[in-house]
Amino acid sequence: MISVLFVCLGNICRSPMAEGVFKRILEREGCTADFHIDSAGLHDYHRGELPDERMRRHAESRGYCLIHRSRPVTKEDFEIFDHIIGMDSYNMKALARMAAGDAQRKKLHSMTDFCSRHKAKEVPDPYYGGAAGFEYVIDLLEDACEGLFKTILPHQ
Ligand code: 4NP
Repeated sequence: MISVLFVCLGNICRSPMAEGVFKRILEREGCTADFHIDSAGLHDYHRGELPDERMRRHAESRGYCLIHRSRPVTKEDFEIFDHIIGMDSYNMKALARMAAGDAQRKKLHSMTDFCSRHKAKEVPDPYYGGAAGFEYVIDLLEDACEGLFKTILPHQ
């Protein structure tokens, strides 16, 4: 079992979208049973909420149904998950501060490092922007999740 946790600030836009994109790749590849996938946020302002209505609408237009409930990232997540993927440099700094030691820090990766078609350094926060920002988030995540899948797939 390979476990991956996607992390953003509120866990209502980028990270639940990343979770949805990655889970669909696993379904397509017939690997769902081999992975444990979840998402979390650095703060708990939206704890228990479904993803942002705008994120769900843009996701739905590409065939994704997002049903995750927002939750904050915990110290235990650093023990449980094999890979913890942040969306921007703020996320990465906050996650690095939470990590207990080098072994946990090695679990941290930035989402855009797995992009092959896009040159972006971050998945930008779409919360205060317009529709184009949400579409761009999905574009980046679809690119990055394909790269992530190829990177962490166990090679038989
Ligand atoms: P996310 O977006 O980190 O992609 O879920 C945000 C959601 C909520 C807020 C900021 C960013 N907020 O300030 O409440």
